Amino acid sequence: MIEFQHISKSYHGKPIINDLSFTIHDGEFIVLIGPSGCGKTTTLKMINRLITMDSGKILIDNEDITKKDLTDLRTHIGYVIQQIGLFPNMTVAQNISVVPKLLKWGKEDMDKRVRELLEMVDLPYEEYAHKYPNEMSGGQQQRVGVLRALAARPPVLLMDEPFGALDPITRDTLQEELKDLQQKLNITTVFVTHDMEEAIKLADQIVFMDKGDIVQMDSPEEMLRNPKADIIRQFMGKHTKQNTIELTCGEIMKTNVLKVDNKRKVLESLELMRSKGTDSVVVVDKTNTYMGIVNIDDLQKRGIPGQSIENIIRNDVITLSTEAHAKEAMDAIQNQRADFVVVLNDKQKVVGIITKGSIARSLSTTLWGENNV
Ligand SMILES: Nc1ncnc2c1ncn2[C@@H]1O[C@H](COP(=O)(O)OP(=O)(O)OP(=O)(O)O)[C@@H](O)[C@H]1O
Ligand SMILES: [Mg+2]
Repeated sequence: MIEFQHISKSYHGKPIINDLSFTIHDGEFIVLIGPSGCGKTTTLKMINRLITMDSGKILIDNEDITKKDLTDLRTHIGYVIQQIGLFPNMTVAQNISVVPKLLKWGKEDMDKRVRELLEMVDLPYEEYAHKYPNEMSGGQQQRVGVLRALAARPPVLLMDEPFGALDPITRDTLQEELKDLQQKLNITTVFVTHDMEEAIKLADQIVFMDKGDIVQMDSPEEMLRNPKADIIRQFMGKHTKQNTIELTCGEIMKTNVLKVDNKRKVLESLELMRSKGTDSVVVVDKTNTYMGIVNIDDLQKRGIPGQSIENIIRNDVITLSTEAHAKEAMDAIQNQRADFVVVLNDKQKVVGIITKGSIARSLSTTLWGENNV
């Protein structure tokens, strides 16, 4: 748990952060958002003591951070900045090992960890571990930046606009990978952005800041439904139009669903998922009738090369009809931590999929119009 208690900070007599108090629970994903200069980066950097507050206290697990040994504090907090910040003269493996090395891990442990991390984001060790940053794309470098921050298994991760410089598709993929890793590893994360769509997609709680104050701290859904100040509405650029209570799954689903035929072979399916950057696909039969899903873990662990995917299809995914209430999909994704819900028509054909991203997009479109975010 991270607690901000009455934190203030001024530069040259000008108040930048005013009596900030809020709490971040273990495993929570917090997004700090607000106009440029409102104090997001300052707030973030106070957590790992890159910036010192004038007054107030920050406690991590009830311990005042100023009382902790600085190296100890920083090696327990992963930190990712916007400009990637990989060391150009170090290979990917060396970059990832920076903190483990500081912590004096043995070579074998370090090597194992590098392999394990690269695998998590689908950068094969053999191909990437010995590359230098300038031999990779921006998205790949940013992945390595995230892995480096995660290398020593820190309980806390700080990220300052890490995906700002990426193209929308890469950014989308990395957002999904990050959220996935964060949930799997249960890392308490504080993420700075000025992009509302990104905030809605990633956050458990959004902290909206303006001029060094918290204007509203709420879940994405609550902030979308009840923005408490004009600055928040302005920030999203539009005005509240209609209630979302009446929306159905059919209205908020994404229709370009990645699907595979149940006769498809294991390796082909793996390749397809790799190339699309996804970790699961919906399985249908020849008539587009829903059969279940397959995920990459099952394919890798239980799939037999040369055989079809038929015996590893899972049926534990939530399906809803197009007529079902959108709120059911939201609840499923929010509370049961499902990554997505599959939408079927009354003949059990797959017509769409609902993810946190598609909910965010459709909610903001409904509330603020087409050109939002
Ligand atoms: N070292 C410094 N000396 C003086 N003023 C500073 C210093 N660092 C930050 N500031 C001021 O503090 C305010 C908050 O800065 P901060 O970097 O936290 O903003 P931000 O919300 O991260 O903005 P952005 O979205 O542009 O990154 C700004 O007005 C900035 O000019
Ligand atoms: Mg900033």
